[in-house]
Amino acid sequence: MSASDAAPLRQLRLDALVETPESFGSSYEEEHTLTLADIQEWIVPANDGAMFGVFTADALAGMVGVGRQRKLKMRHKAHVWSMYVAPAHRGRGFARLLMHAAIAHAQTMRGVRQVQLSVTANNTAAVTLYASLGFTVYGHEPEALFVNGQLYDEALMALPLAGK
Ligand SMILES: CC(C)(COP(=O)(O)OP(=O)(O)OC[C@H]1O[C@@H](n2cnc3c(N)ncnc32)[C@H](O)[C@@H]1OP(=O)(O)O)[C@@H](O)C(=O)NCCC(=O)NCCS
Repeated sequence: MSASDAAPLRQLRLDALVETPESFGSSYEEEHTLTLADIQEWIVPANDGAMFGVFTADALAGMVGVGRQRKLKMRHKAHVWSMYVAPAHRGRGFARLLMHAAIAHAQTMRGVRQVQLSVTANNTAAVTLYASLGFTVYGHEPEALFVNGQLYDEALMALPLAGK
């Protein structure tokens, strides 16, 4: 994505936080005040990261972010965040396409050896997607999220990068 995509990205991200709040660590309440300049920093981050989008004729249909850890001792790890495909566009391979782009981008990050992510443990669609791409579960965090009065566990998943 490029900086000029900030407006549709901001909208899709807020839609995602409203539609499936239990899928994300952040919340609408925390992000609805973000400016387009804030969102542009996601698209063009200082630290090797990127955001990828799937565009249909007139709209942004899906998104995913990939970044690397900033701390010196953790810079060999990348993470995937903000994976979302709008409901009308699901089941057409968009998420798989986005994940391929994110993983390929992580491969270009010098010294990065694995891609990590966390996913709500009962999110069968997302867990199945990540497993089909080679991610395996390395941890399970009970009661990781508390959303609208309900507790959710998270699965921690990682993909080792070939040749690293
Ligand atoms: C999870 C999500 C991103 C999948 O998007 P999508 O574009 O519909 O997924 P794709 O069409 O690319 O499917 C890719 C793979 O995901 C898995 N998958 C997708 N939907 C599934 C479902 N309903 N049940 C089981 N597996 C599913 C399958 O492995 C599928 O591969 P296949 O079609 O070869 O079987 C989408 O449902 C979504 O945005 N959900 C809400 C937000 C969310 O959960 N984000 C993840 C946060 S960690």
